[in-house]
Amino acid sequence: MAGAAILIIDDEPGIRRTLASILEDEGYKVQTAEDAVLGLEILNRETIDLVFLDVLLPKLGGMEALEQIRKDWPTVEVVIISGHANIDMAVRAVKLGAFDFLEKPLSLDKVLTICRNALTVQKLRKENQNLKKIAGLTKDEIIGTSKEIANIRALIKQAAASDARILITGENGTGKELAARAIHSGSARADRVFIEVNCAAIPDSLIESELFGHEKGAFTDAVSTRKGRFELAHGGTLFLDEIGDMSLSAQAKVLRVIQEQKIERLGGEKTIDTDVRIVAATNKDLEKECEAGRFRQDLFFRLNVIPIRLPPLRERTEDIPLLIHHFLKEMGSEKTEFNTDALDFLTSYPWPGNVRELRNLAERITVMYNGDKIDGKGLKDLFLKNPVFAAENRGGASAQPAKVNVQTEAVLPSGLMELNYNDAKESFEKYYLEFQLSRNSGIITRTAEAIGIYPSNLHAKVRKYQIASAGQAGGHGEKD
Ligand SMILES: Nc1ncnc2c1ncn2[C@@H]1O[C@H](COP(=O)(O)OP(=O)(O)OP(=O)(O)O)[C@@H](O)[C@H]1O
Ligand SMILES: [Mg+2]
Repeated sequence: MAGAAILIIDDEPGIRRTLASILEDEGYKVQTAEDAVLGLEILNRETIDLVFLDVLLPKLGGMEALEQIRKDWPTVEVVIISGHANIDMAVRAVKLGAFDFLEKPLSLDKVLTICRNALTVQKLRKENQNLKKIAGLTKDEIIGTSKEIANIRALIKQAAASDARILITGENGTGKELAARAIHSGSARADRVFIEVNCAAIPDSLIESELFGHEKGAFTDAVSTRKGRFELAHGGTLFLDEIGDMSLSAQAKVLRVIQEQKIERLGGEKTIDTDVRIVAATNKDLEKECEAGRFRQDLFFRLNVIPIRLPPLRERTEDIPLLIHHFLKEMGSEKTEFNTDALDFLTSYPWPGNVRELRNLAERITVMYNGDKIDGKGLKDLFLKNPVFAAENRGGASAQPAKVNVQTEAVLPSGLMELNYNDAKESFEKYYLEFQLSRNSGIITRTAEAIGIYPSNLHAKVRKYQIASAGQAGGHGEKD
């Protein structure tokens, strides 16, 4: 890893200089950029292994830059540099796929440790991918012995045999994409294409051309004819991921294609027959979205021919030991023995990020755990080093997410403009928090993270405005 190429993006010349000299002394090749636009240009031009990225940047912000790096250079690791005042942002960045963060003022030791760890994880990932390629391992093995997972496996097998449309629902990281791929590989279309569309990632203005394609000259940027994903998926499976985030106008068009089994490219005259099997997924409750008028009921019925609901990991804790062993083995880790304490900890933690979060922990164990056997204390230490978990703990929350019952629909008080500044501000704040809490199932940490404040702060406000109607329920997330 000596000789790895590192890019530092920070607008403070002092930080750029210090970091660069620390890293160069270790034998890394270092480049610097004073803003993210210049940084992305360097990434475009050269091969970079690791980026140190400031969160607060002029022009293009650190979070947007991170998003772009994740999308265009998925193998590049990113370490966030953050001031104490914006730790919340750094934590959010880690959830969005940054490796870790450094707090200013920078500590020499931390810089080097994080840098080494990030490069080790990257190397493992690459090796792992190569091994998988060599071994021809398919990635869609669904691990688990719980009856919930056994049911899912049976359902997938049954559903795969038909051409019926399938709607997969479940929280983040429960394996929706994995299930979609398993359906495709188990179907008669297995040797044809599996095309994925992330509906949440495509801006509204581009979704039509993305899905249906366009003819040359259909709009200003349409310099050549392009096939859409429906056309590309012909004969195979089209996976519409995050379908709950699709705009109503795009929904109307998808519905038409489903009804007619034909598409038209934008700006095109002819209709093209398509034979696609549609599998859709979402972490939203589409029935509620329909009630709220955000999702078309007719489309929901069309998609929901076979519903598959993936249970959260905390509802099938018996799979946890199996899964973590599987991931550790897959990562080539030799540390696979857990004592009872450690297992208890793993099975009582609520896993808000579900299997994906468990997988990330396995990665951390592989890289950072000292010692052969994993015990409760060592595991908790590792968890506390995880910025995401540590931030939840800072809020005084226990390992179980605190939750409030938001019963009323948030209503913006009328006559807001007649109030004095303070009363108006507070009325709005209460309305805003009620709205955000109900959107996040009343879960304090999740809401706090979504709106960028500390959970402790949110707790205090919930008390202040008496938002919680039935006090706190310390249950396992939604289940209590
Ligand atoms: N039962 C399982 N067995 C093995 N691996 C699993 C299982 N469930 C999920 N995974 C792994 O966990 C990670 C997350 O799964 P996946 O991407 O399918 O989740 P998702 O529900 O689509 O998440 P999101 O809502 O965030 O898009 C992947 O690496 C996947 O391979
Ligand atoms: Mg997914």
